[in-house]
Amino acid sequence: MSGTARHQSLNTPLLQINNLSKAYQGNRQVFADINFEVKAHEVICLLGASGCGKSSLLKALAGLHPVNGGEILFKGKPLHKPDASIGLVFQAPCLLPWLNVHQNTAFPLTLHRESKISQAEIQTQTDTVLQWVGLRDSADVYPDQLSGGMAQRVALARALVKSPDILLMDEPFSALDAITRLNMQQLLLKLIAHRRNAVLLVTHDIDEALILGDRIILMGDTPGRIVREWQITMPQPRAKHLHELIETRMAILEELSEVAGEHLLPNGAVV
Ligand SMILES: Nc1ncnc2c1ncn2[C@@H]1O[C@H](COP(=O)(O)OP(=O)(O)O)[C@@H](O)[C@H]1O
Ligand SMILES: [Mg+2]
Repeated sequence: MSGTARHQSLNTPLLQINNLSKAYQGNRQVFADINFEVKAHEVICLLGASGCGKSSLLKALAGLHPVNGGEILFKGKPLHKPDASIGLVFQAPCLLPWLNVHQNTAFPLTLHRESKISQAEIQTQTDTVLQWVGLRDSADVYPDQLSGGMAQRVALARALVKSPDILLMDEPFSALDAITRLNMQQLLLKLIAHRRNAVLLVTHDIDEALILGDRIILMGDTPGRIVREWQITMPQPRAKHLHELIETRMAILEELSEVAGEHLLPNGAVV
């Protein structure tokens, strides 16, 4: 590769979303003219009222749903189907009840036999990610014996097992209690700091976005579109210094109250 070509490839954003639009059947436009980029190692939080199209957008970016207009470039190439370098975590852990923690985590590695990954490699990669999420000692446990937080840690380990460049996360912590949610946010920050994944995380919680995001993107609805974005430059850890971001929080709340209207709760969460 020439020096210039290498320079260009290093500067290519991980994900480029250009004029993306989608309509479900019946021609109802769910989102339109979405433009943004995710750079390598960047953490972006996507905020918006329920129904504005956040999950639809994330599924499109995962290559799970077709779009009607625009394009998605992943590492500079058009993305039309799921890619092993894009990890996914949803609000529900969606574990397979007949597989234990180790088997659930290893599952993506066992799907494509043509990749010829050895049993020893599967074992090593699975052990490594279970160690990261603190579940190495629970490898033999089945999903019905896990707490909500543990199950979501398995879902996170499963998303990480193929060492993705980016994690797409759809309200991954919103079904958890407040303490578990804080613990999961800190675990995610630890993972990001050490494994250097980029993250695009949908949340309806402004504080979660402020704790995690390098950038916060606000979506409005009818159809879903990007309204505004904020760059958060305060270094990590932020959880104990959130009061220093009060002005940004107020600005986000104000903008949200305009786009979310009656959907807005007093604490800044949006339903
Ligand atoms: N598979 C689908 N088919 C048709 N309409 C859908 C489908 N999924 C979502 N929608 C509609 O698209 C809109 C946006 O939904 P969604 O992307 O789930 O929003 P959000 O995640 O922001 O709450 C909603 O009106 C929803 O009813
Ligand atoms: Mg959603």
